[in-house]
Amino acid sequence: MGEHFATQSVHFSTQDKQKIESKVTPIYQTTAFKFKDLEDIEKFYQGDKDYLYSRVGNPNTDELGAAVALLEHADAGVAASSGLAAILIGVLSLAKAGDHVIASKDIYGGTYELFTTELDDFGIEVSFVDFTDHQAIVSAITNKTTLIYSESITNPLLRVEDIETIAKLAKQYQLKTMIDNTFATPYLIQPLDLGIDLVVHSATKYLGGHSDVTAGVVVGDQESIEKVKRKAINLGTTLSPFEAWLACRGLKTLDVRMERQVRNARKLADALAANPAVGCVYYPSHASEKGNGAIVTIDLTGFCDTATFFKGLDWVKIVPTLAGVETSVSYPQTTSHRALSLEVQEQLGITDGLVRISVGIESIDDIIRVFTKAIERAKL
Ligand SMILES: Cc1ncc(COP(=O)(O)O)c(C=O)c1O
Repeated sequence: MGEHFATQSVHFSTQDKQKIESKVTPIYQTTAFKFKDLEDIEKFYQGDKDYLYSRVGNPNTDELGAAVALLEHADAGVAASSGLAAILIGVLSLAKAGDHVIASKDIYGGTYELFTTELDDFGIEVSFVDFTDHQAIVSAITNKTTLIYSESITNPLLRVEDIETIAKLAKQYQLKTMIDNTFATPYLIQPLDLGIDLVVHSATKYLGGHSDVTAGVVVGDQESIEKVKRKAINLGTTLSPFEAWLACRGLKTLDVRMERQVRNARKLADALAANPAVGCVYYPSHASEKGNGAIVTIDLTGFCDTATFFKGLDWVKIVPTLAGVETSVSYPQTTSHRALSLEVQEQLGITDGLVRISVGIESIDDIIRVFTKAIERAKL
């Protein structure tokens, strides 16, 4: 260990002497892993040792990738530093400079911005198409097209994608498919079972579930995930061990959270649909056997003053995110979909009265009461 204070104060670890068997996976908050000698390093490259350097691989980030893979019926998964990072490495594993991607028009604004700005710099062209029109998808295919991209339940208008048809169509033209399953989660929909090649998540949302971790995951078959992992390593989009650990902790309650949140959302959607001061309620009707998700989007245009509605929400937090255990609201026009021009927003139905509600695990009576009161106060 060394004799001097300066050495001892650094080399005090008792790790090698202890036989600790912790109940939950510890946080491997380390940038690298140590080796006994040079031969030991070679063992890593021969596949006989698992870890070298945390950007390349870490037990916590690997655990998150493997856990989501298990829930999504995938062979393997890669964790990333955010949902957007996961989308980037997923897309770059399936499209390179000169290739063409067809994406649904009504995707998350941040993904839209990534596709319209950064992918262009990578030499990848993206066409945005109305995915309710399958013929329009076929018409958009060129000899450069490699990938079709959409969301299982779209943000913020909650259109349920016809995943099976899209997967079949893509196979017919030898194209790859990628689905963002953030809103549905594998609790509701498992896109790989429907023929999709890669599934991506913003684990910042339901997988983490507590609004305290920013993370992403890509899952798919072994060969595809190896390519995604290479992108993650080379582009440095790796997730930190602590964030991965937090996401894994959140994931353990996904089933019970979703059960409650989906049930609450159904009841809130019904109550809002019955309220004459709500212009329109967007809530899917056929997303899965287990329900239709925990987001309810409403349009108050012409019925309520939107600013007054937001001011009257009492304990409901106004946040530009979703999916935590607390009920929250967001305003897509100036946050998640700000990157879209007013014209595109209008085409998609993102009006100045559109409010996205992320329904939490609280008492449904309290949730309905708070929204009913805010609407009552804001109605025109
Ligand atoms: C559907 C969807 N996908 C991806 C993202 C991006 O995730 P992150 O913020 O973790 O990068 C978001 C963020 O809101 C989202 O709603």
